[in-house]
Amino acid sequence: MIVRDARALIASEIRDLLKVADRPEITSFAGGVPDPSLFPLGDFRAVYSDLMADEAAGRRSLQYSISEGLPALRQWIVDDLASSGAVRSVDNILITCGAQQGLDMLARLLLEPGREIVVEKPSYLGAMQAFSMRRPTYVGVNMDEDGPVVAELEAAFKGGARVAYLAPDFQNPTGRSYSLERRLAVLEIARQHGAVILEDAAYSRLIYDGDALPSLLALDETHGDQNAGTVIQLGTFSKTLVPALRIGWLCAPRPVIERLVLMKQAGDLHVSTINQEVALRAARKLFPAHLGILRDAYRTKRDTMLAALDEFMPDSVTYTRPEGGMFIWLTLPENIDSRQLLEQALVDAQVAFVPGQAFFCDQSGRNTARLSFATEKLDRIRAGIERLALLIRRVHNQ
Ligand SMILES: Cc1ncc(COP(=O)(O)O)c(C=O)c1O
Repeated sequence: MIVRDARALIASEIRDLLKVADRPEITSFAGGVPDPSLFPLGDFRAVYSDLMADEAAGRRSLQYSISEGLPALRQWIVDDLASSGAVRSVDNILITCGAQQGLDMLARLLLEPGREIVVEKPSYLGAMQAFSMRRPTYVGVNMDEDGPVVAELEAAFKGGARVAYLAPDFQNPTGRSYSLERRLAVLEIARQHGAVILEDAAYSRLIYDGDALPSLLALDETHGDQNAGTVIQLGTFSKTLVPALRIGWLCAPRPVIERLVLMKQAGDLHVSTINQEVALRAARKLFPAHLGILRDAYRTKRDTMLAALDEFMPDSVTYTRPEGGMFIWLTLPENIDSRQLLEQALVDAQVAFVPGQAFFCDQSGRNTARLSFATEKLDRIRAGIERLALLIRRVHNQ
């Protein structure tokens, strides 16, 4: 017998609805993927060709390798983390098949049926899909302008929850970030209760305005003790290089890494050696210049979408103004159900978006929607928002 939870059902209904979103006549704000026109194809061509031209490195990259991941790649990640203030060692890093595998492995390590996990309301659907395989009890925490509501987080930990999944930078689906004060408060509360924070840093490098704030990992000072720490951070090259390499990583205290390495051995031995080698060479070659290219391109798209929302949306619709990432979050008038709106939008406005309900652990948020500005061209972003706004005005006044 196959057990299905309500959120999985909503998610699969939405997937069915969005099957038409790929049609060329549809302007899609539904995707959660990077813009493929920004993939550095020429550089990848050179990286692959140089690798295969190098007899020793080429053969090594086609061989099995250790479950932890290539030491040189882990060292690159350690250096990169250090440059943003998080001092860790190679032994704190495990290479995973995308951050998604990290979420799945952490779910298997930390969750069991009925055990509580704190999630933001709303939260990343893919994380909840991974967690739900362990049938945990979700404790949803509301968000304000600065991050998770402290009193709610505290109540969750007081109620017995010991794991929290949080995304402080340009969250999927809202694009929101935490203030520095809230980061510190969240960390302090977790410490007081002996809880572990799973910090999703998938979008943290896609920052378009101002300076980056320190990650929870960076604020979680371990004083050189590889076994210490309240924060486990998930990182990925999916948004900064290309997702198809499937290279992500976990940064965690050593005892956690040791358990996860055994799990990795049992599951799939290791992440593809050649993909790790290519990711390392591409990162060395392309960073930080490529990040600058991505930031400029996505900033322009974000600005175009925000300008169109400002121009066309009625006052009854509110939306986030993200400083990074790929998403803008709409809150529609109470009487609009965004799943019904999507059905109409696909037909009447040729526009797709993701209804917000699936991102809530308690299936609330019926009048919310996620828009991605990442993949469409500027003129289509503007025209698509204009058509969507017209439809919303019509539906709202009915
Ligand atoms: C917030 C967040 N975390 C993790 C992932 C998983 O990324 P990947 O497995 O490609 O590294 C995604 C993918 O969209 C995401 O949006």
